[in-house]
Amino acid sequence: RSLDLAVIPGDGIGPEVVAQALRVLQTVASSSDIDLAQREYPLGADHWRATGETLTEDTMHALRQHDAILFGAVGADPRSTDIPSGLIEREMLLKLRFSFDHYINLRPSKLLPGATSPLSNPGEIDFVVVREGTEGPYVGNGGRLRADTDQEIATEVSLNTAHGVERLVRYAFELAQTRRKKLTLIHKTNVLVNAGKLYSRYFNAIAAEYRDVQTDYLHIDAATIFMTTDPARFDVIVTDNLFGDIITDQAGAITGGIGYAASGNINASGEFPSMFEPVHGSAPDIAGQNIANPTAAILAVALLLKHRGFEAEGAKIEQAVEKDLAQHIGETRSTDAIGDDIIAVLTGE
Ligand code: NAI
Ligand code: MG
Repeated sequence: RSLDLAVIPGDGIGPEVVAQALRVLQTVASSSDIDLAQREYPLGADHWRATGETLTEDTMHALRQHDAILFGAVGADPRSTDIPSGLIEREMLLKLRFSFDHYINLRPSKLLPGATSPLSNPGEIDFVVVREGTEGPYVGNGGRLRADTDQEIATEVSLNTAHGVERLVRYAFELAQTRRKKLTLIHKTNVLVNAGKLYSRYFNAIAAEYRDVQTDYLHIDAATIFMTTDPARFDVIVTDNLFGDIITDQAGAITGGIGYAASGNINASGEFPSMFEPVHGSAPDIAGQNIANPTAAILAVALLLKHRGFEAEGAKIEQAVEKDLAQHIGETRSTDAIGDDIIAVLTGE
């Protein structure tokens, strides 16, 4: 059994949390006979400063040869003025997601024992958001007429295809079948009627093939209320790119914050490598201080392993993270120390 990884540590705390995630991965790989190969790719804001490159065709080609990509975070300190705003996000991160057809953005949310939710009565939060990754309002389909005048008209046209919606919804039903068998579609079908119809049509049609999965529907605005008042009601959520972006930030907040949220950018057809990352960014405000929480990056490795068929190994990391958290409630630990502690749980020391 083997795993050939591309590693993109990125900027700021990216390399700090990825270092711990790789230590954890190596620990699990060596104890379960996974033959692990990894190659590091320097990409991001610092790389752009050094080379003027965002993501070249050569690098894309090289990345494509790997089984999967582990990604830290990219992005410059917003106070820096040398990098055009959004350049790295657009020409590196979004380019990767679109070129590798990462049409499933998978974001699990679980309130781990020991993590603190700001909700007074959170209940058992354990759900997964299946967010569309390559369509919707994020495709750059729009423009500015009479730009920078007081008659400017700006458009951002949401693009939704039958192909894109069908494969997304099908993936969500499959996932729901492996869990508590409950799937919620979140959209705004009463106002965004065109995309709404497309989503509802596939959702209802595919539901007929998965009769053991219980389905419901919520408008995005109502969904944000339930996310606060009764998040335990959710098992699997399927939604478009924009609503998924918003609802998963809220999901991160109610489950104890950004230090625990991991995500997968998945090409479920297997044509391209999928990419796993913490949800957070490069956190320039705390970079270089060894205080970033590497847990999200470590959980990203668990998702990666499960995606590549190493189910038991991924579950082992998730259990180690839960155990570690429960043992250190309320403690402030360094980035390295959290890595050490999780490895200690894994090796039984
Ligand atoms: P951010 O996620 O980097 O930071 C938001 C806040 O959360 C900061 O106060 C930070 O210190 C804290 N934080 C984040 N991760 C943490 C961790 N692991 N442990 C403890 N605290 C943590 O978001 P922000 O500040 O909006 O963006 C900073 C840079 O990162 C920008 O250049 C942005 O474009 C980029 N970014 C990149 C992403 C990616 O690579 N996928 C995602 C989000 C932002
Ligand atoms: Mg976001």
